[in-house]
Amino acid sequence: MEQINLAKSQNRSLNKKSVFQITLPIILFTIITLQLVKNISIKRPSHPIISTSSYIKDHDEVIGAPPTETGIRKCDLYSGEWIPNMEAPYYTNDTCWVIQEHQNCMKYGRPDTEFMKWRWKPNDCELPVFDPNRFFEMVRGKSMAFVGDSVARNQMQSLICLLSRVEHPLDVSTSKDDNFKRWYYQSYNFTLVILWSPFLVKTLENDPNGRTGKTFWGLHLDEADDVWKDEIDKYEYVMVSAGQWFFRPLIYYEKGQFMGCRYCEIDNLTEYSLLHGYRSAFRTAFRAILERESFKGKVYMRTFVPAHFEGGEWDNGGDCTRKRPYKSNEVHLEGETLDLYTAQMEEFNEAQRLAQQRGRSFQLLDMTRIMLMRPDGHPSTYGRPANLTWPSDCVHWCLPGPIDSWSDFLLEMLG
Ligand SMILES: *[C@@H]1O[C@H](CO)[C@@H](O)[C@H](O)[C@H]1NC(C)=O
Ligand SMILES: *[C@@H]1O[C@H](CO)[C@@H](O)[C@H](O)[C@H]1NC(C)=O
Ligand SMILES: *[C@@H]1O[C@H](CO)[C@@H](O)[C@H](O)[C@H]1NC(C)=O
Ligand SMILES: *[C@@H]1O[C@H](CO)[C@@H](O)[C@H](O)[C@H]1NC(C)=O
Repeated sequence: MEQINLAKSQNRSLNKKSVFQITLPIILFTIITLQLVKNISIKRPSHPIISTSSYIKDHDEVIGAPPTETGIRKCDLYSGEWIPNMEAPYYTNDTCWVIQEHQNCMKYGRPDTEFMKWRWKPNDCELPVFDPNRFFEMVRGKSMAFVGDSVARNQMQSLICLLSRVEHPLDVSTSKDDNFKRWYYQSYNFTLVILWSPFLVKTLENDPNGRTGKTFWGLHLDEADDVWKDEIDKYEYVMVSAGQWFFRPLIYYEKGQFMGCRYCEIDNLTEYSLLHGYRSAFRTAFRAILERESFKGKVYMRTFVPAHFEGGEWDNGGDCTRKRPYKSNEVHLEGETLDLYTAQMEEFNEAQRLAQQRGRSFQLLDMTRIMLMRPDGHPSTYGRPANLTWPSDCVHWCLPGPIDSWSDFLLEMLG
């Protein structure tokens, strides 16, 4: 207990200034790289996220009901609505101390609280809200890794907050890097880690083949990132995801050979799509997992989750100021979101087929459409002090907030 309190007070005693010394570079980095994307982007859909066109039919054809290991599910968990839940939230920014500054919307004065008070209700059954005691009983003596980017970290922090009603973890990180945090729950001998790998594959920052003066990421699309590939044996549960980083200027390699790039604007270089990189990264990641004989754990893919900028792009006044979820008939998957989702689902379905042949478990957290319905859950301008004029954040999720529901699904899938 003493150690827990110590960790807690150390964390609390970080003053605002030092916290911003840590987080500012992260935010600026994101902004700067997004800026590059803007400068050289070719064409953008005016409303990439929300449209009135119908996708329901295609959606069903693409994925159907989420498969399970047994192939039996009475109810499609992912068809449903957000319904009011007056019991939420289950923690606050004062009871949970791992909330990162720029997701601490209450601290930065978000005036409304309704966005915290919803739960997902499948049409044909109930999805119980997360029960931390039940979760701990299931994961006792085990460990779980989140592989991905800052949204994966957002999800892990949400889980820690939900668990904080029962136990606060010890920070047992071996590195000072927030991207490789390691948490340990003493009473349950349960370990949680984040393994930072926003592209899932081997990457080279500042690839020299990029256009001068721009930051290009070189992606080796057929080589899984060692950061997680050689680590996963240690975990019973591995949650894999990837998203917004694929919108950056990228250079693609296969078999060590230069293939082409995205936003390259260099004469005679092949321009590849965003989708090519995204699909290949998932294919490579899943292959690496399947080929790893010593890995016996369960794999979960959390699907692509869209941002909700409206009224402009992220850097020219785009914002997310809605206060309520959409109903399921008010939004439809389309455009880039649909393309990314479809590509990763196809890769997942193939990996799951191979996994079944080998007695392995690949499962889905199919959050794309559900979160498309939650334009109200982002920090917007409440992820920073009011006098800082950074662009609104419509990518990450306030804590507490709608991302907490991902743990409802996770617990359902653990069994
Ligand atoms: C939590 O939010 C409140 C405002 O609702 C704020 O006064 C307080 O400082 C915040 N606490 C932490 C630890 O962020
Ligand atoms: C904790 O769990 C690990 C497996 O993850 C096991 O090797 C170890 O013996 C356990 N320790 C205790 C104290 O139960
Ligand atoms: C691109 O290709 C054209 C014709 O093949 C050639 O004339 C030109 O020099 C090339 N440019 C570069 C930068 O290699
Ligand atoms: C924002 O306001 C705080 C005090 O509320 C002050 O310490 C800080 O310097 C201000 N930052 C900027 C960029 O004005």
